[in-house]
Formats: sequence, structure tokens, C-alpha cells
Amino acid sequence: MRALSLLLSGAVSSLCVAALTGCAHHRARIEAFPEPAALPVRVEWPSALTFLDGRAVRNVAEWNKERRPELKALFQHYMYGAIPPKPREMRFVSGGEYVDFLNGQATLKLVTIETGPGEGPRIDLMVVTPKSEKRVPVFLVMNFCGNQAITPDPRVPLTRSWLRDSCKGTVNNAATEASRGSQAQDWPLAEIVRRGYAVASFYSGDIDPDRAEASTGLYAWLAAGGTSNPANRGTISAWAWGYQRCVDYLVTDRAIDPARIAALGHSRNGKTALLATAFDERIAMAFPHQAGCGGSAPSRGKIGESVKAINDRFPHWFNARFKEFNAQPERLPFDQHCLVALCAPRPVLFSAAEDDQWANPAGQFEVLQAATPVYRFLGSEGLRAERVPPFGVLVDSPLGYYIREGKHSMTAEDWRVFMDFADRHFRRD
Ligand code: GCU
Repeated sequence: MRALSLLLSGAVSSLCVAALTGCAHHRARIEAFPEPAALPVRVEWPSALTFLDGRAVRNVAEWNKERRPELKALFQHYMYGAIPPKPREMRFVSGGEYVDFLNGQATLKLVTIETGPGEGPRIDLMVVTPKSEKRVPVFLVMNFCGNQAITPDPRVPLTRSWLRDSCKGTVNNAATEASRGSQAQDWPLAEIVRRGYAVASFYSGDIDPDRAEASTGLYAWLAAGGTSNPANRGTISAWAWGYQRCVDYLVTDRAIDPARIAALGHSRNGKTALLATAFDERIAMAFPHQAGCGGSAPSRGKIGESVKAINDRFPHWFNARFKEFNAQPERLPFDQHCLVALCAPRPVLFSAAEDDQWANPAGQFEVLQAATPVYRFLGSEGLRAERVPPFGVLVDSPLGYYIREGKHSMTAEDWRVFMDFADRHFRRD
């Protein structure tokens, strides 16, 4: 495996940071990015179509070859930390395949993704596919409480990873039989397969536990193996790596259409789904549901969670440098519309809830508006709406928006909206 520092310098090696180096064609290393305190205060959100050095992106080639790598490097440098590289070794180990799932409507596949060398993360992926002659689109979803919480089917193994005790049926941070199906009502699997979609789900804790304490997962393995420098790290990046490893498997599954993989997640998992999509073009669509600060809401936002609030409460989610923006997020050389822009022209749906002001639904709409110029630049419509739609009305343009009444949650109703949006944008055959 290549060292992270090498990977990072590779990611920016073709960037031109003329203003910083005094040379228009200097091959900059990431260390050339200024310290946060040296960045200018910018109350207006930086344009996605303007380089860090102030030059405008003139054409699609410049966008693809220069500005996208620059934005990826900036997000990794100032906010999320580096997404670790693909592991040198991977194995997909079958834990069973059952054609009688959901009364025979679906096939249940249990796969463990083993990473190495050595004791790398082992990701249990549960794949539910409709009975279909043709390859089907899939929602790849990271979950909060283990795969066994999604269905009462006893064949799904209890997660062996650390669980927060707030997950139902958890005792001493371990899943028990009582946890089975505890979230099943929010995952309408039968309806999803009836509509022709597969669902693949995995638990975030299989990659790295959601704890501020030292990593016992991906980063611990990378450090112990001496193969990578985990200094510029963040748990959301680790989880995005998890999405990518699941995609590595899904593109080999003959039931799945590799061109129609959607990444979905709720809240912190939605932040991760958006990051994973921005960085991995194999993912065709993103559903960051109620993702809020650090995901779909602007860091410069004045409603709900602030950069300081998220860093204070969840210091492990982002890298150390991001804390330096606590007092002045206006110094960030990007805002979250730039992360959406990295997904362009792929469809992205932001879905929100009225009572979830912590996730700043209005600010999320502005993020889509600000990402739209990049979609248009690439020949896509972007966001069609000019103002936030009424509750319950889906704006189904390639940058989609939806807000409903109610609280911060992911429900069966929300899944219907996800599928409506996917129906609209995934070619059906
Ligand atoms: C907290 C956090 C949010 C996050 C949410 C969740 O509320 O402040 O940023 O999205 O947890 O993941 O449920």
C-alpha cells in the first residue's frame, strides 16, 4: 500500500497554485496550502468554478483535470482528512445466499469484505436483491446499529463490532438477539424489492467505531501496519472508505447493475454518503438524508449546528485542521456546495425535515443552488426550483430537494421519496 502522504502529494501534484508559489506551473505539494489563519475571510461562498489562486475554470477539461483534484485535495486537507487508499488485499467471503428471503420475493446474500494485509477491517455486507433476470440498481446504505437491526431474519449475523448502547438490544456495547429487527419498520425491504431495487447495507462500526477515543478500526490497522500515516484523519473519511470497499464488491455481483449504484445514508451517515460519492465516480447517485453540518448544510450557515458545535461534540469526525475554523468558518476555501459539485453531473437528492432545524434545511437548499452553476457548466440542469418547495413535494431535477413535516429520522415514507427520485434518474430497462 502506498503511504498516505504519497497519495496526497499525488492527488495535488498536477495542481497549479500560482498565487502560493509564485510560479504558474509549479507542481505543488499539499503542504503548500496556507495555514487556516492565513486564508482570507470570505463571507460569500467561494465559487466552485474558481481556483484557489483566483483563476476562473475556463472549460470542462480544466474542471475535470485541475479544479476537481484541487477541491478534493482541499477537502482532505482542511476538513475530512485523507480518505485512505484501497487496501492491497481484499477478499469477499460468502456467509450464505438464501433465495427464500422475504417469503421468496428476494435473495439475501451475506458477504464479508476482508481487507489486508494483516487484520484490516472486516465489513459485513448484507445484500437484498429482487428476483430479476436483469441486473438491478442498488441503494448502498451505511447503518447505525448493525445489519441485524434492519431485519428480524435470524440468518443475518449479529454485528461483532462495538455498538452504542442507545441501539436497541445492545448490552455492554454488544448486539444481542433482542436487537434483531429493531429498525425494520424504517427499512421497507419488501416494498423496495417490489419496486425493482436492491439494498446493500453495512454497519459503520465495522470500519471504525463512532467514538472520540483512539481508533480501534481502520486507522489503528493502518498505523500498526506502518503502511500509512493516519495523522490527517477523520472518521467520516474512514467510513467513506467503507462505502468504497462495498462498491468494490458490488461491481462484482452479477445481480447488481454496476452503473446504477446509489449511496444513501442518514445524518452522519449521509455526510459520509455524500463524501463517498464526491470521491468515487463509480457511485452514480447520492442520497445524503438530513445530513446537515459537515455534509449537506453550509459550514458558513447561521441556522442549526455550527462548525464549532460539531467539532466540539464529534472531534473524531473531521481532521485536526478543521478545528482551526471553529471561530471563523468564513476562512474555509470552499463550502459544501463544492462537495456537491464534485458529484456533478450525477444526481444528488437532499431530503430534510421541518423540525430538524439542527441540519439547516434552508441552508441545504442554498447549497444546491450554489452547486447548480457547475451542473450547468457540465450540461445538466442542476436544481430546477427557485425556492424551497412546500412540504411533501419532491423537486426531482438532477439536484433534488425534498422537505417533509416531522423530525430527524429516516422512515419508510422517506424511502418512497428516495425511490421516486431514483426512478426519475436511473434508466429503467
Ligand atoms: C448529531 C450531530 C449531527 C448528526 C446527527 C446524527 O445531531 O450534531 O451532525 O448529523 O447527530 O448523525 O444523527
